[in-house]
Amino acid sequence: MKKLEQLYEGKAKKVFATEDPDVVIVDYKDDATAFNGEKKGTIEGKGVINNRMTNHVFKLLEKEGVPTHLIEELSDRETAVKKVEIVPLEVIIRNVAAGSFSKRLGVEEGTPFQEPTIEFSYKNDELGDPLINSYFAVALGLATWEEIDTIKKYAFKVNEVLKAYFLQADIKLIDFKIEFGRFHGEILLADETSPDTCRLWDVNTNEKLDKDRFRRDLGNVEEAYNEVFKRLGLA
Ligand code: C5P
Repeated sequence: MKKLEQLYEGKAKKVFATEDPDVVIVDYKDDATAFNGEKKGTIEGKGVINNRMTNHVFKLLEKEGVPTHLIEELSDRETAVKKVEIVPLEVIIRNVAAGSFSKRLGVEEGTPFQEPTIEFSYKNDELGDPLINSYFAVALGLATWEEIDTIKKYAFKVNEVLKAYFLQADIKLIDFKIEFGRFHGEILLADETSPDTCRLWDVNTNEKLDKDRFRRDLGNVEEAYNEVFKRLGLA
């Protein structure tokens, strides 16, 4: 597959056109940002880990009935994916209180929930990705009710599959963010699922094995990404 012109450069990935208008190539970078781009850095080897891990997880999810944009892994950092129109919503599922939830509601980090929660943020850098609800999303024309229902159904399914997947590696899935896209009228899971977009804690010690190590200057960032990669048998 031939890589043509660059279509887009995001915080962690570049996207290139191919000869097929329905296919793009995603190229994962080692660049890391946090707090809406205010904090910048590099996590060496992250691009390779996030590419491999996302593709592995997406294949697993396909088998479990969640359609994804994945076509084919092309190299360590490059993957061919279906060219979707991203639904401008960050979909966040939480199993345990942490991060912005703990801050907003004054609930101590690590407090488990009775049931998983779902929330939506409006993907808008200028506004800092504000929290919205599904009525806002429909009112603003970001998605239809039918799409919201599909997204919710898939998001909770992703949670069920990933909770079990990480647990067999002695990792607790605290929360995660996913994104969806439209492809010829169908909703597909898109973007990535990696230690950049999930909170992953060691099941015994609660040690953080994810991007919070970078966000909060906890040190051993690369080691944590490598540990997850190794435990999942992907290294
Ligand atoms: O910061 P907050 O607690 O809202 O994050 C919830 C989850 O969503 C975390 O796993 C975090 O890594 C992920 N997230 C993300 N990209 C963002 C915001 C949050 O991947 N822009």
